Formats: sequence, structure tokens, C-alpha cells
Amino acid sequence: MKTLQWTLTIIKPDAVRKHGIGDIIEQFEKNGFRILCMKMLEISKHQAEQFYAVHAGKAFFNSLTDFMSSGPIVVLALEKENAIADLRKLMGATNPANAEEGTIRKKWATSIELNAIHGSDAEDSARFELSYFFAGYELAQ
Ligand code: CMP
Repeated sequence: MKTLQWTLTIIKPDAVRKHGIGDIIEQFEKNGFRILCMKMLEISKHQAEQFYAVHAGKAFFNSLTDFMSSGPIVVLALEKENAIADLRKLMGATNPANAEEGTIRKKWATSIELNAIHGSDAEDSARFELSYFFAGYELAQ
């Protein structure tokens, strides 16, 4: 069954540094995602820890949150039928070594950590992640 969904994506500091913003946003639009809202910002280590709280305690948590607070990121709210699963397909595997040809991570990611892009993995995480970066009025239609 097709459901209109919203998802949160982040173009990570590595992809921003490599001038990947335009190409990645083009991929969203070419693949049927509607951009509801978008902003470029830098987050602090503390904000990265809050955003990735679900990974607290994991071996990569400290280095992940250092990386995510290391430079500008671009956050977007995207809308599409089955947006959550379709974006994850377009992103490719978390580890770019396993990412399929034609995916964003295959083209832009360097390693499992410097992996160019984040996308919400489920409806509840999408709700949390959208509300972390966007106020209700910014997403109002
Ligand atoms: P992301 O989709 O943003 O969700 C959590 C992030 O943690 C993931 O992408 C990777 O950047 C990072 N991550 C996941 N697993 C590992 C790992 N084994 N080692 C380092 N970083 C990881």
C-alpha cells in the first residue's frame, strides 16, 4: 500500500565539503521527492549527541558525533509516497562498500562513518528527526 510520508534527510559534512549538495538535491527531485523545507546549519557536539541519542553507548558514538559537528550540514524535509523506504533505497547501504551502483552513498560516501547522507529509518524516528530540525510552522502546507 502506498502512503504519503515525510522523512528527514541530512547531507553530512563530508558531502558538503566535497561540493555534493547540488548533485544530491538533484537526485531527490529526479526521484520524485518533494522538498518541503530545507536549511544549512552547523550543529554542536551536544546537538549531534541529542539527534543520535538512539546510538548512545555504541563504539562509534563519540566519533560519529564529532564528525556530525565538524562542519556545515544541510537538512531537508522530504515528501513522497513511501518516502522513508524509497529514500533509504536511493541512499544505498550505510557502508558504501556495500552500496549499489547509482546510489548516493556509492557516489559520495567514503566510509561507514563518512557516509555522505542520513535518512530516517522508520515513521517514529522520522517524526522525532523532523521535529528536531523543523518547527511545525516551517512544515505547514
Ligand atoms: P546514519 O544513517 O546517519 O545513522 C547512524 C550513523 O552512524 C550511520 O549513518 C553511520 O554514519 C554511523 N555508523 C553506523 N555504524 C557505524 C560503524 N560501525 N562505525 C562507524 N560509524 C557507524
